[in-house]
Amino acid sequence: MKKKIIGVILATAMFATLLTGCGGGSSETTANTDSAATEDAAPAEDTATEDAAPAEEAADAADAAADAADAAGGDLADKKVGVCIYQFSDNFMTLFRTELENYLIEQGFAKENITIADGQNDQATQSGQIDNFIADQVDVLIINPVNSSSAETITDKVVEAGIPLVYINREPDASEEQRWADNGWNVTYVGCDARQSGTMQGEMIVDLGLEAVDFNGDGKVQYIMVEGDPENVDAQYRTEFSVKALTDAGWEVECLSDQVGNWQQDQAQSIVANALGQYGNDIEVVFCNNDAMALGALQAIEAAGRTVGTDIYLVGVDALSEALEDVIAGTMTGTVFNDHFSQSHSAADAAIRFLKGEANEYYIGCDYVKATQANAQEILDMVK
Ligand code: BGC
Repeated sequence: MKKKIIGVILATAMFATLLTGCGGGSSETTANTDSAATEDAAPAEDTATEDAAPAEEAADAADAAADAADAAGGDLADKKVGVCIYQFSDNFMTLFRTELENYLIEQGFAKENITIADGQNDQATQSGQIDNFIADQVDVLIINPVNSSSAETITDKVVEAGIPLVYINREPDASEEQRWADNGWNVTYVGCDARQSGTMQGEMIVDLGLEAVDFNGDGKVQYIMVEGDPENVDAQYRTEFSVKALTDAGWEVECLSDQVGNWQQDQAQSIVANALGQYGNDIEVVFCNNDAMALGALQAIEAAGRTVGTDIYLVGVDALSEALEDVIAGTMTGTVFNDHFSQSHSAADAAIRFLKGEANEYYIGCDYVKATQANAQEILDMVK
């Protein structure tokens, strides 16, 4: 239901240098083993029992049914899914993993066969969890890596174990994705293109008009940037493309501060509090790579006696409920809906296709949606 509404909204919407400090698939193929084979196989077993066939015949029929079910990926209720999340305390990934688990259950997986591990933002911890999932012989793995740069090592061991793999949220680099395609491995990535979210953040500022944004009237826009984990392509792209939208509109910009808040509200709060202390009224726009950090920025802005929409602007990404409420109230200029419904469903659907013996594209994308005062309530009704 929610998915449908999102579809309607989406229909209407449409390597950066690592900046800290200012500065700057293949087509789907289908193996001939669809779920019909599973459905056909089950009655064969029942019939053999009901007809009270001789024991040997019944056993043969049961074996044939099991083989057919195996060929088809078997019944999802029997399949074990291992999910690795980089860090449970991340607000956005909490929405993502909750929806992922619910959707997997809706698709027929048994709750007790879905195991979700908290990587605690530590790659060594997560690698141990992946080893355990391999030892447990899970049927499919869904991984949100702590470090995207560890993807090659992760892929190698998971592929070696013969387990299909769906990466989510933190995209491995292009050469890693190329390896999956070159080798025809059952590995894919599901996520959104962070360039789009960065561009949308910048466009929401541009839409206000230079006169409104340039409070000090010096003909350029002074901003500060609060970045997520810089190892993460989402942080890199949002940092670059948010500002690029302003310069593409012909605006002159001046970066006063660009610091890493690691996606965390408390870190962003202190970064922005310090920046406001240092640059005061010179700061006209605060860009945050995600909403958790924008919420921290808002605390600092309010504590400094500044007012969003009146003497400063603030944008985030994710469309967390709290941020949407701020957009509605005018205490946040805008955010960008990072569609965790679409991403978690696509990840589960890709896992199911692998289990059925079908292939996936090597990159499965999804669109972001701008959230401003005009549509924030609509998005809030959907995400709540
Ligand atoms: C989200 C962030 C989140 C990060 C985790 C991003 O796409 O916008 O809120 O912390 O993913 O990797």
